[in-house]
Amino acid sequence: MKYGYFDDHAREYVITRPDTPLPWINYLGSEGFFSLISNTCGGYSFYKDAKLRRITRFRYNDVPQDCGGRCFWICDGDSVWSPAFLPAKTPLDLYKCRHGLGYSVFESSKDKVEAELTVTVPKGCDIELQKLTLRNAGGEKKRLTIYAAAEFCLWNAVDDSTNYQRNWNIGEVEIEGSTVYHKTEYRERRNHYAFYSVNAPIAGYDTDRDTFLGKFNGWGEAAAVRERTSFMSRASGWAPIAALRLEAELGPGEEKTYVFALGYVENEEDKKFSSPGIINKDKAHAMLEAFSTAERFDAAVAELREYWSGLLSRFSIRSGDERLDRMVNIWNQYQCMVTFNMSRSASYYESGTGRGMGFRDSCQDLLGFVHLIPERARERIIDIASIQFEDGSTYHQYQPLTKRGNGDIGSGFNDDPLWLVACTCAYIRETGDFSILEEPTPFNNEAGTETPLIEHLRRSLDFTMTHLGPHGLPLIGRADWNDCLNLNCFSKTPGESFQTCSNFESGKAESVFIAGMFVKYGTEYAELAERLGLGGEAEKLRGAVRDMEAAVLRFGWDGEWFRRAYDAFSRPIGSRENDEGKIFIEPQGFCVMAGIGGAEYGRRALASAEEYLGNEFGLELLSPCYSEYREYLGEISSYPPGYKENGSVFCHNNPWVTLAYCKIKDGEGAWRLYTRSAPAFIEDRSEIHRTEPYCYSQTIAGRMAQNYGEAKNSWLTGTAAWSFAAVSRGILGIRPEYDGLTVDPCIPACIEGFKVSRLFRGTRYEITVRRGNDKGLTVNGTRVEGNTIPMTDAPVCMAELVI
Ligand code: BGC
Ligand code: NOJ
Repeated sequence: MKYGYFDDHAREYVITRPDTPLPWINYLGSEGFFSLISNTCGGYSFYKDAKLRRITRFRYNDVPQDCGGRCFWICDGDSVWSPAFLPAKTPLDLYKCRHGLGYSVFESSKDKVEAELTVTVPKGCDIELQKLTLRNAGGEKKRLTIYAAAEFCLWNAVDDSTNYQRNWNIGEVEIEGSTVYHKTEYRERRNHYAFYSVNAPIAGYDTDRDTFLGKFNGWGEAAAVRERTSFMSRASGWAPIAALRLEAELGPGEEKTYVFALGYVENEEDKKFSSPGIINKDKAHAMLEAFSTAERFDAAVAELREYWSGLLSRFSIRSGDERLDRMVNIWNQYQCMVTFNMSRSASYYESGTGRGMGFRDSCQDLLGFVHLIPERARERIIDIASIQFEDGSTYHQYQPLTKRGNGDIGSGFNDDPLWLVACTCAYIRETGDFSILEEPTPFNNEAGTETPLIEHLRRSLDFTMTHLGPHGLPLIGRADWNDCLNLNCFSKTPGESFQTCSNFESGKAESVFIAGMFVKYGTEYAELAERLGLGGEAEKLRGAVRDMEAAVLRFGWDGEWFRRAYDAFSRPIGSRENDEGKIFIEPQGFCVMAGIGGAEYGRRALASAEEYLGNEFGLELLSPCYSEYREYLGEISSYPPGYKENGSVFCHNNPWVTLAYCKIKDGEGAWRLYTRSAPAFIEDRSEIHRTEPYCYSQTIAGRMAQNYGEAKNSWLTGTAAWSFAAVSRGILGIRPEYDGLTVDPCIPACIEGFKVSRLFRGTRYEITVRRGNDKGLTVNGTRVEGNTIPMTDAPVCMAELVI
């Protein structure tokens, strides 16, 4: 069952009913100011850091769900309705939510009044704009009372929801014309404020939440709205809000447009006040002026569309399969940009108060956005490498505001360093910018420790080579990619974090997965070193890679598939010797991608993965699921069977297997797996899948779960980047290489051929892939050996590959 449809031409997903199985959200903003917005206008805004600069409130785990985001009410006679359905909950005659790239539009109507509400964050300005157009579609004059409200968060989202003895005292506002200023704490250490405004004279306001709502009421029953009045309340402590009231008269056919604005401003120290205690509002005035008319709003939306057209034109395909095209051309790339902006911080599942930027997460995300924003990818790589320690190990996370390593979670995730090699090589292949390797980069952000970035890569690889266990396989440390496989942890204390507990008993547990990574990325580094004329270094590394391959084939192969690990007692994990958790997905994906054992081992490993892990939504992480908690395994066995790391389809690692299929040239296998979890391909099962059909989720409950097929944790997942890598580099086979763009598709029989338009190092490549007898690559009309289009300076390059 579907709850909407894709409008590919507009690059929108159109939701046709408010009661989606879960809130279906969108992201607004691409620089400093960000907003989450659901299909009923829920969500919140923040400036740069979802924990430290939260602008509006949101209550995770609230009842009812998703209330109190952006609140609009239209009072028409006795009826009160909301253009996005919530908070009024009045059934609408028409409801549509169109989530587009950086904006969302709500179209609704009730009793012959039509509303169109467009919400966006324009480029270059720290403001959320909400344009509301009301039209009288009837034959009678309409007298409408309109309310719009926002509830301010007292800046630090954690403090805001915990430290009530203090924060029920600090709320303060200023009111000027149609603008409410949220000036809480502005008088002391802060130089920033927020505001909510509308570009028309207001008939009244409220700024104290409890006065506006009235006793015992939620947002759906606000007293002021019910009484069609404003109490003109002035917040003093408690919960400051901005509730604006407008009165409008619309003759038949007449329409009126308002632009509401929620803005954030920082003032210079010496320009904080316009008079004692009064905020200097110059910047807010200028921002409001810049978007004071519907035309200016429309121009901002047009600019945003241009921006997205520019970004997405860097890679687009025409394949004849509209679901594939919409994933590749629009939604998968859009999600990659969202993960670039948000990392794992703010979604409807990530509270914005927990995790900083993950080392491994950020490195992997980069694989999905490097072709879109190469300059920012460069900066990101340096930020990430700067939290590495001199021995090659690294902090697991850093804070986006300070860019410092996060001491609370510390280090010890032994896969982390290798991801730096992965993303740096990908960056150079995309851009040809070898100079990044020379960039002075500190260790642990300490001034004076700067060394060229390439030294960081060396230390990453060295770290793996110098931390091998009894089988010659890499030591796992706290955990590898699978944060929940905590083989050295032995946690017995309820509530203790598996990520930070210190109970290392032997420290000798080993990871076959990291071994696969080392073979893959060690080889990539060796190729890079050869290009740089570092032959000796390359040779040494190739030797270490060969040893690692041998160790995997000797101790990491279980007969039918790759093992997962060795535990702290050197017993195999992910082996037929185990009673549960006999086979894991991660090493099948990575070891086959790395080419360990060649196509022969690859075919067997992938056939086993399909046989034991396959369900209709993809491949489960492991099988059989752990049915009880086992101390020597850690968090993985703390989840009920079929959920999360304990045997769900953990979407992130499915594209590894898709790429593994491509590695062994099995186009049917790659396609079968890709299409099983790609959101657009399972749109018609939305009532089971439940999360948004236009983005990937982290996890889809496995066969052992009660709610088999139900997805969770949408948006902020490495699945976005890896899925894009799998489809673009694997299935379509468009791969940036040092010497040019390679075209090496691995497509199923059902795809006849396709066309790609790809911007690569300043040249636009127009590539056609088709089936035929005259096999081979032709570039600008000339036959070329092999599969790589040689580098060119020309603005456009035409290529055709016949397969
Ligand atoms: C989750 C993992 C996550 C880890 C670290 C665990 O509870 O299951 O998916 O990586 O927390 O945040
Ligand atoms: C989510 C985390 O963000 C990621 O770093 C980890 O690899 C996966 N969970 C698997 O545990």
